[in-house]
Amino acid sequence: MTRYETLKNNLKISPSTWLVTGIAGFIGSNLLETLLKLNQKVTGLDNFSTGYQHNLDEVKTLVTEEQWNNFTFIQGDIRDIDTCHKACTGADYVLHQAALGSVPRSIEDPVLTNENNINGFLNMLIAARDAKVNRFVYAASSSTYGDHPDLPKQEPHIGNPLSPYAVTKLVNELYANVFARTYNFNTIGLRYFNIFGQRQDPEGAYAAVIPKWFAALLSGEDSFINGDGETSRDFCFIDNCVQVNLLAATAKSEDAANQVYNVAFGERTTLNKLHELIKNRVDKSGCKKGDSKLIYRDFRAGDVRHSLADISKAENLLGYAPEFSINSGLDKAAKWYTTNLT
Ligand SMILES: NC(=O)c1ccc[n+]([C@@H]2O[C@H](COP(=O)([O-])OP(=O)(O)OC[C@H]3O[C@@H](n4cnc5c(N)ncnc54)[C@H](O)[C@@H]3O)[C@@H](O)[C@H]2O)c1
Repeated sequence: MTRYETLKNNLKISPSTWLVTGIAGFIGSNLLETLLKLNQKVTGLDNFSTGYQHNLDEVKTLVTEEQWNNFTFIQGDIRDIDTCHKACTGADYVLHQAALGSVPRSIEDPVLTNENNINGFLNMLIAARDAKVNRFVYAASSSTYGDHPDLPKQEPHIGNPLSPYAVTKLVNELYANVFARTYNFNTIGLRYFNIFGQRQDPEGAYAAVIPKWFAALLSGEDSFINGDGETSRDFCFIDNCVQVNLLAATAKSEDAANQVYNVAFGERTTLNKLHELIKNRVDKSGCKKGDSKLIYRDFRAGDVRHSLADISKAENLLGYAPEFSINSGLDKAAKWYTTNLT
């Protein structure tokens, strides 16, 4: 039995109370689904800035009525410390996902990104510390590697941030580290690489590439590649990300605490290859409404050229064992996008 399977069994036997911030978003709503299916009590906090009620509604259809009754939703903003205090009350674990994502958004509006991702983060740290939660797990980011040239990326070797967004995620790590030293507070940062899967938003200027391409290819609109398409990323399916959140929150070993971990699959895929993988699935789905062109345009400011994670630290210290490759993850994502976008 894997460590994750054992953990799921144990959680079912003795349920805990979890606070998930950013619960109406992509990753938050997937955490909610898994936690409720494991009969956990969940409080969710979201201001619906980039998240949706329909994500919560979908989770409701995927769990039993009894499981859904274990969920309490607070519509509120992490920039308000009182809201953070209220949300943290009674939580055993915090999975802090709320933030404004997207490198281009942060370049356009660095102040807004800073307010949400740094001020909001600090509020959450304070509230979780005061509520004496067992552990504060937070969404860090691979953008923290910045201009460091090494591949694969290993946790101790980071470069200079390349965008305001990357600055905010680095500052999150610095604050978490200082809270561990100063207040003996227990945190774990998860440096997500490109996470994808069900409920990731295909809409808007700041949508991530996988949902955007599913939407474009299904509707017959053109899809765009920034640069020559040989830019590469370590794409990681959402269920792997959920797994590592639960493992991180509950990891008992002292060595595992107050650390940051890469969260990825550990394989590099170019954008050209990714487009082909998505197109093959859309072509086979029988749901396509027209043919779309692939258009190459300029490289985007703030983007790193290649990204690939060394995931051995999470494997060794947390027992992380990703269950989905990019191919099996894309199969599941394709099923969801063809059902929900057509
Ligand atoms: N998806 C990825 O590939 C990826 C990669 C690296 C890091 N991350 C980080 O993971 C976390 C979750 O990302 P996601 O992809 O699910 O994005 P998302 O936009 O789908 O979810 C973020 C959620 O946070 C909420 N939120 C934002 N600001 C808030 C505020 N001030 N108060 C309350 N709620 C607020 C939004 O409404 C949304 O529901 C973020 O911290 C993001 O920076 C994601």
